[in-house]
Amino acid sequence: MPRDERHLRWHPPAVTSEDRARCLRQRGGVVWLTGLSGSGKSTLARALERRLVESGHAAYVLDGDNLRHGLNADLGFSPAERGENIRRAGEVAALMADAGLIVITAFISPYRADRERARRCAGQSPFLEVHLDVPLSTCEARDPKGLYRKARAGELADFTGVSAPYEPPTAAELVIDTGAVPVNVAVETLLAALKQRGVL
Ligand code: ADX
Repeated sequence: MPRDERHLRWHPPAVTSEDRARCLRQRGGVVWLTGLSGSGKSTLARALERRLVESGHAAYVLDGDNLRHGLNADLGFSPAERGENIRRAGEVAALMADAGLIVITAFISPYRADRERARRCAGQSPFLEVHLDVPLSTCEARDPKGLYRKARAGELADFTGVSAPYEPPTAAELVIDTGAVPVNVAVETLLAALKQRGVL
C-alpha cells in the first residue's frame, strides 16, 4: 500500500548526539568496507570489532552474508536487489551510528551510487569508506567459500568480478590491500582514522 506523506510526522529526538557521546565516551560512526568477495571484509570487520570492544568501545559488525539470512533474506543479486540490500544496510548503519555505536559494515556493495547513498544516509555521523582493493586473482585464489569456482563453472550467475561488475571507489577515505598488509596492521590504520575523525 503506498504511503501518504501527509500522515507522517518527523519527531525530533529528545537526546542530542553530544548527550550520547558523553554517555558512551565515543561518537557513533560508520566504517564501510567494500570490495570483492574474498577481499577480507568480514575478517577485517571482525578483527576491528574485537579490538574496539576489548578496549571498551561499543562496536557492531553488519555483514552481508549474515543480513541476507534475516533482514535481507528476500533479496538476490540483481543490480536492483543489491541496491535494496545496500539501502537497508545503509539505513541500519545510520541508525546504529546515530545511537552512538561504531558500525563496521562488510558488504561487497559493488555499485558506487548505492555506496554514495549509504554515505548520505549517515548524515552527520562520520563515514569512512574503505576499499579493500585486492586483485581479483588473489580473491579467486583464496576462494574461501568455493564460489569463484562455481561462478567460473557457470553454476552461479551474476557473481561479482566474474559475471557482475564491481565499481571501485574513486574517493574512498582509505584503500587497503589485504594481500599486502596483515590484518593487525589494517586494524591499526582503521583505529588511527577513527581517532582522526573524533570517533574514538
Ligand atoms: S552485495 O553485492 O549486495 O553487497 P553482499 O555483501 O550482501 O553483496 O553479499 C555477498 C555474499 O553473498 C558473498 O560473500 C557470497 O558469499 C554470497 N553470494 C552469493 N551469490 C553471490 C553473487 N552472485 N555475487 C556475489 N556474492 C554472492
